[in-house]
Amino acid sequence: MTPSTLTVSSALGDYPVTVHAGVLTSAAASRSYLDELGPDHVVVADSRVLRLYPGSPWFLDESRVIPFTAHETAKTLDGVQALYQAFIDRRVRRSTTVVVVGGGIVQDAAGFACHTFLRGVNWWYLPTTLLAQGDSCIGAKTSLNHFTSKNILGVFARPGRVLVDPEVLATLTRVERASGCGELLKVSVMSGPEAFTAHAADLEAVLAADPDACARQIEAGLATKITYIEDDEFDRGRRQLLNYGHEFGHALEAATNFEVPHGLAVAIGVDFANRLSAGRGRATSDFVAKVAVVTRALVTDERVPRLRWAALLHHLARDKKRVGKDLTVVVAHGFGRMEKLTDVTPAEAREVAAGLPYVHFTDLGDAGAEGGTTG
Ligand SMILES: NC(=O)c1ccc[n+]([C@@H]2O[C@H](COP(=O)([O-])OP(=O)(O)OC[C@H]3O[C@@H](n4cnc5c(N)ncnc54)[C@H](O)[C@@H]3O)[C@@H](O)[C@H]2O)c1
Repeated sequence: MTPSTLTVSSALGDYPVTVHAGVLTSAAASRSYLDELGPDHVVVADSRVLRLYPGSPWFLDESRVIPFTAHETAKTLDGVQALYQAFIDRRVRRSTTVVVVGGGIVQDAAGFACHTFLRGVNWWYLPTTLLAQGDSCIGAKTSLNHFTSKNILGVFARPGRVLVDPEVLATLTRVERASGCGELLKVSVMSGPEAFTAHAADLEAVLAADPDACARQIEAGLATKITYIEDDEFDRGRRQLLNYGHEFGHALEAATNFEVPHGLAVAIGVDFANRLSAGRGRATSDFVAKVAVVTRALVTDERVPRLRWAALLHHLARDKKRVGKDLTVVVAHGFGRMEKLTDVTPAEAREVAAGLPYVHFTDLGDAGAEGGTTG
């Protein structure tokens, strides 16, 4: 696999994203980047990745390495404070580059810490999950959770360089790769029928960590996302369509105390949004069914604990991108045909949610399902 680079134009400074097999693990593949980096750097690395790849050239000098445990409860101001202290202990200065290695959780926490420490230090990002490689590594967003409010704090902060090594996806579990596929499913539907068909055709190979299929889907995901972020980097208009699947998805994550992995929650949210669109007579049942086949392949029944609709609606109503008095949901009317709805009522959302096969709500049928807190 020959390395390929795309450059993301950003008001914060353009940055290259290079897909280079072996760049995390091989001395030969990483050499030119480590030379460019120089000695003034520290590495914030996902603890599990550190354990799995102890011989990585990026981890050889242990004194520079700051382990970070990837859990949603660490993607918080507390988690960031621990990073600030580690930066102070390792004498990070304005001239230091912080190399961030891990999935979206480490990216969000460390990206936020880099942006705010000393009013901003340079950072590079080596994404190690499918979700991070095919989606979150571009777009310059960093988000933190505040108690159970998902991604409610954050800054726009872009890495100086992104290096993607698809070979490390082999050590993820199948469920973690399925989670990455949830975000890739979302962008493939947004891109159009050809991209969706290609995604569905590659699905089994990606779940089995086939490096070529993974690289193809990563490049396809980034190619679609880049068109949205270069158009509207600061999320004031068209980029908000990328929230497709996320209103319901974030609410599902929060209402289950983050038991459902992010990308699986998004895949369910995509199906929710499609069914909503069909309920309004916009999407066809054929479109909904085609996409649902992929969601069904990703989400096995045991992934979603039983929960109360009241708890989910509580979080849906607090979605940070909600506009006006009703619920906001980005929907697809078909492949590549997106719309942001701002007039979804709790009753309409409830009716659609009741038809979802993956989620069992214990309180549907209660008259008072609109209030309540997490449960
Ligand atoms: N900033 C953004 O633009 C953006 C976009 C989408 C999602 N996100 C956020 O990303 C987070 C989800 O990130 P994620 O799905 O990348 O998962 P993650 O960071 O939670 O990692 C999932 C698990 O995989 C492990 N892991 C990471 N790389 C590994 C590897 N190569 N081999 C084996 N194990 C590995 C981690 O230790 C963790 O246990 C969510 O919090 C979501 O909100 C951010």
